[in-house]
Amino acid sequence: MSCQDKIALVTGACGGLGRAIAETFLAEGAKVVVCDISTELIDDFKEKVSSAHPDRTLVLRKDITHESALDELFKEAIEAFGQLDCVVNSAGIMDALDPVADLNMEMWNKVIAVNVSDWNRSGCRSTRSFHLLV
Ligand SMILES: NC(=O)c1ccc[n+]([C@@H]2O[C@H](COP(=O)([O-])OP(=O)(O)OC[C@H]3O[C@@H](n4cnc5c(N)ncnc54)[C@H](O)[C@@H]3O)[C@@H](O)[C@H]2O)c1
Repeated sequence: MSCQDKIALVTGACGGLGRAIAETFLAEGAKVVVCDISTELIDDFKEKVSSAHPDRTLVLRKDITHESALDELFKEAIEAFGQLDCVVNSAGIMDALDPVADLNMEMWNKVIAVNVSDWNRSGCRSTRSFHLLV
């Protein structure tokens, strides 16, 4: 499937799955808005991936659990590339895999905010301009 000239936004795009997805979109001809929270992973992505596709990548450091950061992410993506055709929510975190009896509520709430609630937050914003929500 060619993604020539399609615009994809990928959250968690400098991690394992997200990076593979972002690189696949680039290989298929798409422009990619790359969002991640990790400065270290972002620097590595810029050095090894964006540098080869400077006109087709926009790399943004955003925390997707913050409403204002998501607003900025979608606004900056549209400003840069004019539209979005696909949004992939790949940002995620793992808990410490503690036994249920030792559940850390702070960690639980963080996992829910990143892994679950963002589907809703990003989905709301995506519907204004997207063609496919993954
Ligand atoms: N790898 C697997 O085999 C697998 C299987 C099933 C489901 N998943 C799920 O897919 C998602 C991605 O998995 P992965 O293996 O690529 O994980 P990963 O840890 O390699 O990548 C996740 C990325 O999300 C980013 N991120 C975390 N919190 C963020 C935030 N608040 N804002 C923006 N970015 C944030 C991280 O910096 C990281 O780059 C996770 O939710 C994971 O649970 C993974």
